[in-house]
Amino acid sequence: MNKTNKDEIKLSIPNKPEYVSVVRLTVTGIANRMGFNIEEIEDLKVAIAEACSNAITHGHKDDDNFKVSFVIEENKLVVTVCDSGRGCMINDIKNPDLDHLNQEKEGGLGIFIIKSLMDDVKISSSVGCGTTIMMTKYVGVDR
Ligand SMILES: Nc1ncnc2c1ncn2[C@@H]1O[C@H](COP(=O)(O)OP(=O)(O)OP(=O)(O)O)[C@@H](O)[C@H]1O
Ligand SMILES: [Mg+2]
Repeated sequence: MNKTNKDEIKLSIPNKPEYVSVVRLTVTGIANRMGFNIEEIEDLKVAIAEACSNAITHGHKDDDNFKVSFVIEENKLVVTVCDSGRGCMINDIKNPDLDHLNQEKEGGLGIFIIKSLMDDVKISSSVGCGTTIMMTKYVGVDR
């Protein structure tokens, strides 16, 4: 830990699905060091992979890389995934109706999954300028 008791690790990832595994491996290494247990690490991996896949699928713009940062504190990990793509009207995104999932049209679950697995989620997006999702998980909250 540095003087402010925060360490930061930053990645710049090409807009290609094959690199999501690099982010998953990175978060596994970081979370393991921090004392998250296996279930918590699985939650982190799923949530962060969903955010990366959104950056690639919806957020991509030309060949711009998207950025992932990990801020490590004593009791929490804050992961931010930021793309400079097309953005969206974030307030228009509805929670999925889990009782009536559309069998023919898959999708629309990623953000819901992220919110269920992480302790705090903040999304900001502006059309044409990109999207940033900041996800926080506390060590040991679910035990
Ligand atoms: N990084 C992003 N850039 C632009 N739009 C986004 C981004 N992330 C999410 N969105 C918008 O929010 C919607 C909901 O995202 P969500 O991840 O919940 O579902 P999905 O990606 O459509 O489907 P799924 O994740 O289940 O495969 C997307 O359809 C898209 O319109
Ligand atoms: Mg998605």
